[in-house]
Amino acid sequence: MTIWIPSLELDSRSARYRQIAAAIGDAIDQGQLAAGDRLPPQRTLADALGVTVGTITRAYAEAQQRGWVMSRVGSGTYVRDTASHEPPFSVHVADDQSDVIDLSLSFAPPHPWRDECLRDALVEVSQDPAAIAMAAAYQPDIGTTAHRQALSQWLAALGFPLHEVLAVTQGGQHGLDLCLRALTRPGDHVAADALTYPGFNAASRHAHLRPMAIPLDEHGLDTDALEQRCRRQVPRLIYVTPDQNNPTSAVMSSERRQHLAELAERYDFWVVEDAVQYVPAAQRGPSLVSLVPHRTLQIFSTSKILSGGLRVGTLQMPATLRERIGSLMRAQSWMCPPLMAEVACRWIDSPRYTTLLAWQEQELAARQRLAQSTLADLEPRSLPYGANFWLPLPEGRRASEVQTLLQREGVLVATPEPFCSGSDPAPQAIRLCVGAATSRARLTTALTTLRRVLDEGNTSPWATL
Ligand SMILES: Cc1ncc(COP(=O)(O)O)c(C=O)c1O
Repeated sequence: MTIWIPSLELDSRSARYRQIAAAIGDAIDQGQLAAGDRLPPQRTLADALGVTVGTITRAYAEAQQRGWVMSRVGSGTYVRDTASHEPPFSVHVADDQSDVIDLSLSFAPPHPWRDECLRDALVEVSQDPAAIAMAAAYQPDIGTTAHRQALSQWLAALGFPLHEVLAVTQGGQHGLDLCLRALTRPGDHVAADALTYPGFNAASRHAHLRPMAIPLDEHGLDTDALEQRCRRQVPRLIYVTPDQNNPTSAVMSSERRQHLAELAERYDFWVVEDAVQYVPAAQRGPSLVSLVPHRTLQIFSTSKILSGGLRVGTLQMPATLRERIGSLMRAQSWMCPPLMAEVACRWIDSPRYTTLLAWQEQELAARQRLAQSTLADLEPRSLPYGANFWLPLPEGRRASEVQTLLQREGVLVATPEPFCSGSDPAPQAIRLCVGAATSRARLTTALTTLRRVLDEGNTSPWATL
């Protein structure tokens, strides 16, 4: 067993667990730690560095998330033998034969491991009589204790703050709809960024709510504008995506998050924080769950990390809402199917999960660089590890026209209209999802086509009088 103990001077520039995780990565790079080496027991390292065991637990989880180490239950944490696995950061997806490259929907980049992980999890469940019995029976409305604990641990490992109660939902959209149904009555006002996730617009329309579209800029939702609106009309709740607005990729500044928390207190409204568009912890700002916990519900999902078809997500909330949400879930569908929650929990627990997540982060970063280098002069907006890419169009170009020209060339992109939460005119921009293409080569083809369509100018035929 290795006796590797880093000589570390922990400083206050970043969280201690991140500094310790980074030291593990450095030690592997520098050959001080080799594949198969066991990391020191958490208590030993905690004592050596003068930190809590919890800090070491988070550091090991972070190192695992980065694909450097893997933990074996009851045995310890070991340096991964990456050479014996497939290279985690290469794309080896068979190119699909379809002529259409669809960048209009927001997906995690494809990797054959996604299907394999799902198959492995299903096989494991099918061979475990206790899991089968559990999956065949009715379970508590907000999920079994085991599933709720496993999903809480998953959120903690991803660096999300934990709230008082976690409910297992049927995906992010379900969590969002639950919030609207539980917290509002028909006719209530609900605020959101003027450009926001279309699923919110649809759910609030179906719940007969009145939209309050709040302007946003590159620092996210304009909380001064929200304050002005609150003086005239207080919304019942506000829906926000502070770490990555969908579609614009705007990130809400810390000051505005703080201001939003103050406004929620002052004007007495709920905050629904949607973190479904996954952003790695290091790139995230302070969560509203930490800033104003008793007014905040947080939505997350396995969709952008594992796969959209699982339909398993989480809704974190203050304990005061547990009964209301549980009763609503029973009224809707009794509970999230326990079989799907079990499959998701086994997948998250499998050794390949961390490698897949690390691959995804690197793959998205590489794809974002590709898109940035092709379209840099147009000042696109995206996050280094984000799935989406927001492209304001050059003067004189219209989103519908560019979309039509691209569609004729076999490239699908999204236009802003469905993202508009109010009645302000939609900007002339398009959103592409860099994760959706089946390979980097296909993404390059689509980006080259887009570049050409934009460089050629407006050539769309006119057909009306
Ligand atoms: C911001 C946001 N919230 C929620 C969802 C829905 O997530 P799910 O597929 O888990 O229902 C999406 C899907 O793209 C999204 O972009």
